[in-house]
Amino acid sequence: MAIIRAPRGTIDVFPEEPKIWIQLEQTVRSVCHSAGYTEIRTPIFEHTELFTRGVGESTDIVEKEMYTFRDKGDRSITLRPEGTAPVVRAYLEHKMWAAPQPVKVYYIGPMFRYERPQMGRLRQHTQFGVEALGSSSPALDAEVISLLISVYQSMGLEEFTVRLNSIGCPECRPRYKETLVKLLSKHLDELCIDCKSRLERNPLRVLDCKNERCAVFAKKLPPFFDYLCGDCKEHFKGVTTYLEALRLSYELDPTIVRGLDYYTKTVFEVMHSGLGAQNVLGGGGRYDGLAEELGGVPTPAVGFAAGIERAVQVLQNLANDKSYENNGRTGVFIITIGDEARLKAIHLTHLLRKHGVPADIDYLGRSLRAQMKYADKQGIQTVAIIGEDELKGGYAVVRDMVTGEQTQIEFDNLVEALR
Ligand code: HAM
Repeated sequence: MAIIRAPRGTIDVFPEEPKIWIQLEQTVRSVCHSAGYTEIRTPIFEHTELFTRGVGESTDIVEKEMYTFRDKGDRSITLRPEGTAPVVRAYLEHKMWAAPQPVKVYYIGPMFRYERPQMGRLRQHTQFGVEALGSSSPALDAEVISLLISVYQSMGLEEFTVRLNSIGCPECRPRYKETLVKLLSKHLDELCIDCKSRLERNPLRVLDCKNERCAVFAKKLPPFFDYLCGDCKEHFKGVTTYLEALRLSYELDPTIVRGLDYYTKTVFEVMHSGLGAQNVLGGGGRYDGLAEELGGVPTPAVGFAAGIERAVQVLQNLANDKSYENNGRTGVFIITIGDEARLKAIHLTHLLRKHGVPADIDYLGRSLRAQMKYADKQGIQTVAIIGEDELKGGYAVVRDMVTGEQTQIEFDNLVEALR
């Protein structure tokens, strides 16, 4: 019988990989907590209508990529393709608008999109994201952007670029769209099939089309900046002023329009050259009309989401370049020679774990050399060796696996010394 394989576009995270995942998740939590964001967990599935109304009928996500099915009660259910609409749904449903504003939340979890799998594009991927609801201040846009950058920087990632644009509001967008349609209709032959069909429904998407000819053409189109209304212009100026106050560098990029319909004013993406074609690490923007679109009280809001798998890919490359693993060593491995030493080691391992120190021993009866090799491969920071002499002397030989330094530490002081 053939073995069962995982569905296309999904990945298993293997036991040796989670180190970077866990570090990244911990970094997200600590960066978010430091700025007053608390965790929200929304369901993995929602009523389909949330996304058709929230994300938009004419988006790729709603048109082609949703995992939608009827449940046993004949309701149309969709596995969440993104986290913003669910957060706004929860904000409205639980009347979080009545609490002091802004409400600042973050999330980490899986999203589902039926996309053509390729490098960096999965059918189940994991996002971390933040949403700040209840304020239209451009300072909040800058804060959100700064949080995403802080996460990457805290993880040691440096070589990324922040691209910024404004796609206006319902007041100024129609005028820009009209201009685009007029210009594009004169050059239909130069556009790809997708862009031809987008022209009426979603002309802004022509600006970020990945087709080479469309991209060349998009560069010649007038930027949205020139068409912003007074309010949007002022807001955008505010965002850039706050970003500069935060000493954050960014590039203005009129081709950033994002693939979801709910955006207003600020949009941004963080790119990394090490990612290949799917070079966007994360992105977001303001969505001042979404709460109303979902039947709730008007609520200005801004947020971002970023792919964990993509960040892990870049961080893993960085790890290979900088022997990140060596610096990221943790825990204690007690190497034993003989049964009696093993009994002592089992007790010490228990005590170390009780004091929060990750500790382990050999379960395969390996030789000293093989235990040392195993500890090294496991990324252990410290080994404690206990043989016959050590047992008699009441101490362990403790070796730092990075520096190679060795010292003798009495059993009674071992836990304290290694904590
Ligand atoms: P998004 O750009 O669709 O935005 O997704 C955010 C990030 O998730 C992307 O930049 C990418 O890193 C990752 N991602 C998306 N699709 C895939 C995929 N198929 N495979 C692997 N990674 C993927 C949103 O979802 C918005 N909700 C962001 C937001 C929050 N805007 C405001 N608040």
